[in-house]
Amino acid sequence: MVQHALDRDHEVVGVCREKSVGKLDAFKDRIIIIPGKTNDREVIKRAVAGCDAVLTVLVPWGVRGYATGTAQAVLDYAQPGARLVFSCGWLVFSCGWHITRDGQDLYSWRLRAAAKVLGPLMRLLRVADIGDQVKACRRVFASDTRWTVVRGSDLEEGESQGLPVWSRHVGDPVLESNLTRRVDFALFMVAALEDDALVHEAPAIVGCGTPSALAHAAASEGAGNR
Ligand SMILES: NC(=O)c1ccc[n+]([C@@H]2O[C@H](COP(=O)([O-])OP(=O)(O)OC[C@H]3O[C@@H](n4cnc5c(N)ncnc54)[C@H](OP(=O)(O)O)[C@@H]3O)[C@@H](O)[C@H]2O)c1
Repeated sequence: MVQHALDRDHEVVGVCREKSVGKLDAFKDRIIIIPGKTNDREVIKRAVAGCDAVLTVLVPWGVRGYATGTAQAVLDYAQPGARLVFSCGWLVFSCGWHITRDGQDLYSWRLRAAAKVLGPLMRLLRVADIGDQVKACRRVFASDTRWTVVRGSDLEEGESQGLPVWSRHVGDPVLESNLTRRVDFALFMVAALEDDALVHEAPAIVGCGTPSALAHAAASEGAGNR
């Protein structure tokens, strides 16, 4: 995400936990790094001061409301009018689209079953809390900021395929492949900063090179040619 932002000439201020600072070594001369937890309100207040936009990774880990605390701090301290883009989703549910904005998403039995069984189990084991990301996103949806919540599919490593395609609702056939390159998820987040059509949207994304995205593109092209 940092690389995509620098590629587009953005000045970058990054927040990451103290123990993770080393992973940003390659960028340390080109960005400002603020070590700290993203749910630390003072850290976020300092980091977002003067920023035109904030890219926020809503992390599902832990059971102490990390995602909710992170989202709230960003909503409270981002400067008025700033563009806010949040990520959400969860690998362990084999589909990261569990957040719904308007209840119009159609989920597979696999996702529903996984949420029912794994959700309480992960919470019991104090590993993760699916409800935390849901709550965080509800706060974002209810805010009067210029937000976008990007809902990720399953992720894979690998070279960029290009900007993912998106749909407003899970269940749309274009999303069927349920796979996005991690680097392209980041690309979508950064590109969203300059795409006002995504303000107040919760796009569910899928890689543009996946079979379902390609089939959709071919169908649209066919319709255009008729
Ligand atoms: N993985 C998937 O398949 C998948 C699918 C759909 C959507 N998503 C979404 O994509 C985004 C990134 O996912 P990811 O899989 O890259 O996440 P990740 O590997 O779990 O890590 C993302 C960041 O979370 C922080 N983190 C990790 N463990 C933490 C903990 N125990 N407590 C607090 N912070 C912790 C780390 O930040 P530091 O820099 O501070 O170390 C890390 O950079 C998330 O919003 C996720 O919901 C992921």
